[in-house]
Amino acid sequence: MEIKNVTVFGSGLMGAGIVQVSAHAGYNVTMVDVEQDFIDGGMKRISASLKRVLRKKHENKDDADAEFETVFGRIKATTSRKEGAEGADLVVEAITENIDLKQELFKFLDENCPSHAIFASNTSSLPIRDLAKVTGRSDKIGGLHFFNPVPVMRLVEVIKSDDTSDNTHAALMTFGEAVGKKTVSCKDTPGFVVNRLLVPYLIEAVRMLERGDASAEDIDAAMKLGCGYPMGPMGLLDYVGLDTTKFILDGWHEAYPDEDLFAPSKLLDRLVEEGKLGRKSGEGFYNYKK
Ligand code: 3HC
Repeated sequence: MEIKNVTVFGSGLMGAGIVQVSAHAGYNVTMVDVEQDFIDGGMKRISASLKRVLRKKHENKDDADAEFETVFGRIKATTSRKEGAEGADLVVEAITENIDLKQELFKFLDENCPSHAIFASNTSSLPIRDLAKVTGRSDKIGGLHFFNPVPVMRLVEVIKSDDTSDNTHAALMTFGEAVGKKTVSCKDTPGFVVNRLLVPYLIEAVRMLERGDASAEDIDAAMKLGCGYPMGPMGLLDYVGLDTTKFILDGWHEAYPDEDLFAPSKLLDRLVEEGKLGRKSGEGFYNYKK
């Protein structure tokens, strides 16, 4: 099946990024979110990021402006879920990392999308099978896990659950390549490849800070200069969002209570409770308000 129309649910950091790379690859894209304010924020983010990408691609400003108009023109945004569902060949779900909300959306999609449509979740930690099971088309459901910032990070994990058909998996792999990413095929295991390795590392850095072993600045400097990572763990936590990391960790802790790597962190919990979510709220491990 040829994918032409892509609908992305969610206009946050990840959703907007997925919309951008899909439109840039030539797909007609519909972005759906629950409030116009969220959509406006997503469109603003896409506009700024796309301009940044095109400024580098074209020496001539007129060429950059012309391509901007073409790519931006492929994007439609709506608060109507029904409008987003109708006519979609591929739906990519990038809403809040909450199983109840996601299951409710997948049920709605199953009832309102064309029967040929395939669905992919951008979940960072939830099992794809738990989303597929509320639909009558689990063979047409897989995962597409992108990385932040989506226009820059070159990977997408393509997740195949036991029920995902070979055709669906192949279509998702093709889509991932079409949007310019290196695809890695993953099983439906907690955190797939990247987050299964990354999240325990990030949380161990938080524990290191809690124990007073080193300062946030020194932990980051150590990993950047000692390992050549573009960001240290505290900076990356702020970049990804402390709430997102907590959602992931809490979910895994509930599912695997005996796994020490997934144990909650009091410091992370406190910062999230105080609304210190990282860059998006202006403060996390670092202060961005200055
Ligand atoms: N849109 C478009 N382009 C962007 C961009 C954006 N949002 N953000 C950065 N860029 C481009 C810049 O234009 C620049 O391009 P150039 O080098 O060709 O001029 C390049 O990216 C580097 O940007 P900056 O110079 O502004 O800043 P840095 O050199 O510090 O790079 C970074 C920023 C790309 C974010 C880099 O620090 C990095 O790679 N950090 C690690 C990010 C990471 O690990 N992401 C994965 C998180 S885990 C995840 O997402 C999974 C989830 O499930 C939790």
